[in-house]
Amino acid sequence: MFGIDACAVQVEVDVSFGLPAFTVVGLPDVSVRESRERVRSAIRNSGFDFPQHHVTVNLAPADLRKAGSSFDLPIALGVLAATGCVTRRDVNDVVLLGELSLDGGIHSARGVLPIAAAARRDRFSGLLLPRPNRAEASVVEGLALYPVRSLAEAVAALNDPEAFRAALPGLTLPEPEARSLPADRDFADVHGQAMARRALEIAAAGGHNTLMVGPPGSGKTMMARRVAGILPPLVFDEALEVTSIHSVAGLLAAGHGLITHRPFRAPHHTISDVALVGGGHNPRPGEISLAHHGVLFLDEMAEFSRPVLEVLRQPLEEGCVRIARATRTVAFPASFMLIGAMNPCPCGYHGDRVRPCRCSPLQIARYESRLSGPLRDRMDLRVPVTALPARDLSASPGGESSAIIRARVMDARVRQLARDGALNARLQGRTLRGRTRLDAAARRMFDAALSRLALTARGHDRVLRVARTIADLDQAEAIGTNHLGEALQFRGE
Ligand SMILES: Nc1ncnc2c1ncn2[C@@H]1O[C@H](COP(=O)(O)OP(=O)(O)O)[C@@H](O)[C@H]1O
Ligand SMILES: [Mg+2]
Repeated sequence: MFGIDACAVQVEVDVSFGLPAFTVVGLPDVSVRESRERVRSAIRNSGFDFPQHHVTVNLAPADLRKAGSSFDLPIALGVLAATGCVTRRDVNDVVLLGELSLDGGIHSARGVLPIAAAARRDRFSGLLLPRPNRAEASVVEGLALYPVRSLAEAVAALNDPEAFRAALPGLTLPEPEARSLPADRDFADVHGQAMARRALEIAAAGGHNTLMVGPPGSGKTMMARRVAGILPPLVFDEALEVTSIHSVAGLLAAGHGLITHRPFRAPHHTISDVALVGGGHNPRPGEISLAHHGVLFLDEMAEFSRPVLEVLRQPLEEGCVRIARATRTVAFPASFMLIGAMNPCPCGYHGDRVRPCRCSPLQIARYESRLSGPLRDRMDLRVPVTALPARDLSASPGGESSAIIRARVMDARVRQLARDGALNARLQGRTLRGRTRLDAAARRMFDAALSRLALTARGHDRVLRVARTIADLDQAEAIGTNHLGEALQFRGE
């Protein structure tokens, strides 16, 4: 695997006379060299003989480092071909993968969906794979699948593929999960909070990163958890990418096919930078990639350690994360909407209508600055959230349902994609200024605001992007004063 892309490795097995030995060459790492022990036991315990000769395994191309346990099965089948147990001579048009257990059983594997996609792309005719991974592989069409549970079954599948496929039970995919999120996460449950709801609708419509600031109990977490449900459903290619990432991370449950809902990831603030952005010896995707095409929610954002937050900057800019290793660089997609929530100060009650704040102005200022300037610059919207008094909680009615909000979000997105081929959150610099037309009154208002508020260049761009999205929600061609005025309310300086 390279990130979520796969390439084929040729496994050659030679059995020749000589002292009994079993060597693997072709840049195998420790995990591949260990496969010798598993292969030997699995072959014996499946009722075959392990040759008392010199066995040499070569993994080609030799300059590519091989890692992981998925080479067990092709190595074992190569040995059995050399001893005559696999009778089919040419298996080079089928991709083989799987980790063996000592008794000859086969464990489920990571990354089967991207491997299946690569096999199809490289014109292999079939894929022999662990049975638990059958559902995800079946997403790729035009590939004959041989989902096996044991080494003995794999031998049977290769020797008589027609009989094996005929005897295979039908695949019953679990119902594709409802295209929207569970009904227990609907915006209809949120009382009041008109401003925060509106901000999150704008954020969803333009794909804007958003920071909610407010006292404990004001509903920040509750509302953030409802954002994925107002985003449009994934299109097929997005679903493929999302499922591939989860597959490579080993987070796809057995029997699971395509993931069709937008991911929502909410890592705890004690998370390490590797777990957040990905990494490790054999690089694995982190939370930001698991949130690809969905929402990354950082609750209590000021409590995350500064270095952990800083590693977010590059992926936020580029929509992917690059992990450098000695011999190569691996990239994982990481295009997500960031939602942050934090208290306004250490005690949490600065600006609260009822509870007094116990913090000094210095403490409040320091708390803010736990998010670095560059990171705050990447948050397009900033939303002050105030707690709803308890009596209003029951009195004020629940709001619009997520389905209604999502319909508006989808309309606004269609307008953006037709005009720019991208969401407004992605517009920058010259493209942004070139594409966003302000009417004359809005232009005067913006000039006045620029001098009065001393907006930075990035602040200026943020306001423009958000105003463009508000105009799109309003189905307006040009940005008017009402759109701009609302955008200025959400500016985060
Ligand atoms: N506007 C609201 N409408 C309905 N329930 C609310 C609202 N605000 C707060 N609550 C209730 O208060 C609880 C705490 O809110 P939470 O989202 O955890 O607040 P915060 O994250 O801001 O500390 C929620 O689980 C919810 O039951
Ligand atoms: Mg909370």
